[in-house]
Amino acid sequence: MSGTVRVAADDTAIAWAGGILAHGGLVAFPTETVYGLGANALDPAAVRRIFEAKGRPAWNPLIVHVAEVAQARALAAHWPEAAERLATAFWPGPLSLVVPRGPRVPDIVTGGLEAVALRMPAHPVALAIIRSAGVPIAAPSANRFTELSPTTADHVVQGLDGRIDAVVDGGATTVGIESTVVDLTTAVPTILRPGMITRAQMEAVLGVPMAMQDEAVEDGAPRVSPGMVARHYAPRGRVQLVAAKAIAAAIEGARALGQRVGTLLYAAPDNGDVCVRLPQDAAGYALGLYDALHQLDAAGADVIVIEMVPDDPAWDGIRDRLQRAGES
Ligand code: TXA
Ligand code: MG
Repeated sequence: MSGTVRVAADDTAIAWAGGILAHGGLVAFPTETVYGLGANALDPAAVRRIFEAKGRPAWNPLIVHVAEVAQARALAAHWPEAAERLATAFWPGPLSLVVPRGPRVPDIVTGGLEAVALRMPAHPVALAIIRSAGVPIAAPSANRFTELSPTTADHVVQGLDGRIDAVVDGGATTVGIESTVVDLTTAVPTILRPGMITRAQMEAVLGVPMAMQDEAVEDGAPRVSPGMVARHYAPRGRVQLVAAKAIAAAIEGARALGQRVGTLLYAAPDNGDVCVRLPQDAAGYALGLYDALHQLDAAGADVIVIEMVPDDPAWDGIRDRLQRAGES
């Protein structure tokens, strides 16, 4: 593929990007969570290009993005009551619903699974691009497989320049970590990936308890939740998650081995060769997390010491990403 065109998200760019998508091209665009790498979800050849551009294995299925609830329903074989309730409460927003897939959804989108993940993003640029394309848009995060998710157009260009047709720059995203993914094909609604829409918020809407599928499975093994690859969302530096009181010792240990130490802190005092601080509230922390990890990588940190975050449900999505970043 030749060069990647980067454009600011104005009306002309949105119409142009919609045209590229409608004709089988690849366009990265902002959502409220992270930048997505979009292709026409109904065109298997276009979707195949997503896997090629990302270097993503075909068993890892994609989320299909829609601009209306009716567009989601039309992609499902059956639209469960729970889906209606959750969509009414949280769409547009950072929640993906896994429902039985309808006949229009190609195999390549779901990795052959009989379920499809659907989401209506809460971002005006994303919604306008989906409407302009006139088709549902399959979009994983716009990063190379296992690398950090992008929260700015710069991050997208760093990872995918020359591999995709265009990046629509709509500024930094506003949630910062990927959507909560919920499986509604099981007897008990099951959280496959925690995010900023929490279990308690969803249980309040559903009126029933949910289950949490929280163990990472090994790469390539048969899986219920294909995206739960252990090493994912990972920076290049080796990540250590450490309680505040053990940070100084962790830094000394790494330095003794001649390593450059980056720290990611929110309450502990500044320390390390390069230090990035995030806010103490979950929403503010999530918003800055991937950019902080990108910065620590750019600063050449061999080891990234991360201050353990609070053991509170509001932080479930953040803890999940930090644990995955730390697994090898
Ligand atoms: O916030 C987000 O969800 C972002 C933006 C771009 O919308 N997208 C995103 O996509 O994070 P991706 O491909 O990086 O992650 C999709 C997750 C994976 O964990 C995948 O396994 C899961 O959703 N998933 C997709 N389809 C599924 C299905 N049919 N059944 C079970 N899990 C599914
Ligand atoms: Mg991803």
